[in-house]
Amino acid sequence: MKILVTGGAGFIGSNFIYYMLEKYPSYKIICLDSLTYAGNISTLDEAMKNNNFKFIKGDITDRQLVFKLFAQEKLDVVVNFAAESHVDRSIKNPEIFLKTNILGTQVLMDASIKYGIKRYHQVSTDEVYGDLPLDRTDLFFTENTPICTSSPYSASKAAADLLALSYYKTFKLPVTISRCSNNYGPYQFPEKFIPLIIIRALNNKSLPVYGEGKNVRDWLYVEEHCEAIDLIIHGGKAGEVYNVGGHNEKTNLEVVETIIKELGKSKKLITFVSDRPGHDLRYAIDPTKIKNELGWEPKIRFDDGIKMTIQWYLDNKEWWTNIVNGEYMNYYEAMYGHREVITKGIKNTMIEEVASGRYK
Ligand code: NAD
Ligand code: TYD
Repeated sequence: MKILVTGGAGFIGSNFIYYMLEKYPSYKIICLDSLTYAGNISTLDEAMKNNNFKFIKGDITDRQLVFKLFAQEKLDVVVNFAAESHVDRSIKNPEIFLKTNILGTQVLMDASIKYGIKRYHQVSTDEVYGDLPLDRTDLFFTENTPICTSSPYSASKAAADLLALSYYKTFKLPVTISRCSNNYGPYQFPEKFIPLIIIRALNNKSLPVYGEGKNVRDWLYVEEHCEAIDLIIHGGKAGEVYNVGGHNEKTNLEVVETIIKELGKSKKLITFVSDRPGHDLRYAIDPTKIKNELGWEPKIRFDDGIKMTIQWYLDNKEWWTNIVNGEYMNYYEAMYGHREVITKGIKNTMIEEVASGRYK
């Protein structure tokens, strides 16, 4: 079996590559990744030592390159992780999200039709369903929940999903889609909430919590997402969508407090900042379909998964130090510098706070 993994130098894609290389020693894995700011080639150092693994630097929107790769490699399966994935960036600059997430998916599926791919798997997100109210904990996203997106990121992912389903119906491309909740674990880029909080807490820096920290996410340890995708590409039914989620709902404030407690840091680091526009209130997945059809269910509780994740960031300082010392500093300044800091009802911008010495 030969699998093309796109976006494999990013967070979930790299975890998937390691999972598959270990579980299936006879499979060949090819990674196609354009190495955007979120792609890190050093993440794949260990994989590079495996003869069954090959890395190709390239963009999924580059039709010529993608078709040449498919012609050369005789692939069986495509798993598309490649995407622009950060909601806050999509609010600042939507265009690249539409290009990569929608047009890139189209290019990969066109090539998959031409070269007779046996399974095209689209890695999607629960964010395509929009959000659930905070006071209705009885409600969950099922595969039949209507698409109702909030951010340019989720809208681009939803567009790609609909395109994928249309390719199944119109061209008979054997497509499957997984819609997963928030992942956490090793190799997550520190613009995302959990690694951002861990790294800033380790450095005794303020911990930015949007709004009042009441928004809820359903956290899944990344390896369990990899396991679900493995089951779907081997046993899932073409044309079907599978929801994947952790039954691990936490408010953002609970997440920060857990991390602070594990690291023995002060709660005073918590800094409430102005909210994300269009901030989804609650995500919660009903994974009954994948449980009944493929026997998948989440096993790792958040309290255990977060300990493993914190330990990974403690053990792999070099990996993230290289990131946070580079271009990332400019990113942090651009994204957070002008956010209001809300302390006891008084609003300041972070820039004013820094100038006054109250905020690092
Ligand atoms: P990530 O941002 O960490 O990694 C994305 C990878 O894609 C990077 O290596 C990047 O270089 C690569 N890439 C970006 N544009 C590309 C292009 N045009 N051509 C080739 N490569 C390109 O993202 P992630 O968190 O690992 O997410 C992977 C996928 O899973 C995404 O499709 C995302 O929508 C989906 N997803 C993520 C989560 C989550 O919690 N992180 C949850 C559900 C679904
Ligand atoms: P994020 O990791 O960006 O994932 P998503 O928005 O796709 O769910 O954010 C997770 C939650 O944490 C989300 O409710 C926004 C919140 N958040 C903060 O409160 N502060 C931050 O600095 C970041 C990046 C996110």
